[in-house]
Amino acid sequence: MSLLGAVKALADQPWSVQLHESLYGYPIVESIHVWALCLFVGLTIVLDLRLTGLTFRTVPVSEVVRRILPWQIAGFIVMVISGVLLFYAIPVRSYQNIFFRVKMILLIVAGLNVWVFNSGVYRRIQTWDADPIPPARARVAGFASLALWVLIIFCGRMIAYNWFDCDKQPQSKIINTLAGCELETPAN
Ligand code: HEM
Repeated sequence: MSLLGAVKALADQPWSVQLHESLYGYPIVESIHVWALCLFVGLTIVLDLRLTGLTFRTVPVSEVVRRILPWQIAGFIVMVISGVLLFYAIPVRSYQNIFFRVKMILLIVAGLNVWVFNSGVYRRIQTWDADPIPPARARVAGFASLALWVLIIFCGRMIAYNWFDCDKQPQSKIINTLAGCELETPAN
């Protein structure tokens, strides 16, 4: 079964249909997605502002991390659960949505940025913890994170707009490829 076939099977599930057609369910899940976003991305920006040396210069970086990390993790978990439910409610539209696809790629890149930071410069935190201006690698990680979350939020917001939906043919070949549209081949 192709991935599109699996996504279409998901869309036929009674729970998916119920959540999509629910009067209050979907809006509540989407509101939780946005609330969790405020918590998770809001606190991530606080840490990035310290890592870039733009503010909180007198507060040791490890102190900022120690105070906000539990809330960040809680926000991220709610973000992912509510996001998966939003996908589950309208799987085909989301799967064939260019903004959703770009957002998922950016989420992976944001995860890689955190991994490189934690496995690299953050391991030597004792040597720069109280520095008002952190080392270049920490500042690069902070600026990259700020840019990535701004782009992820933009893509998340754009998902709702059906500019490139597969049922809006004719569209250019590149758009159909990026969206994963399955076009009927005209009968000879
Ligand atoms: C963890 C980081 C995430 C962030 C910062 C994020 C951000 C956003 C934002 C800002 C929106 C627009 C909300 C609105 O306009 O009301 C959105 C919508 C959406 N998100 Fe996420 N999201 C994240 C994770 C996920 C995940 C992991 C998934 C699914 C696997 C997901 C699926 C969706 C879907 C399907 C929508 C469209 C809802 C709609 O407009 O109908 N999100 N997201």
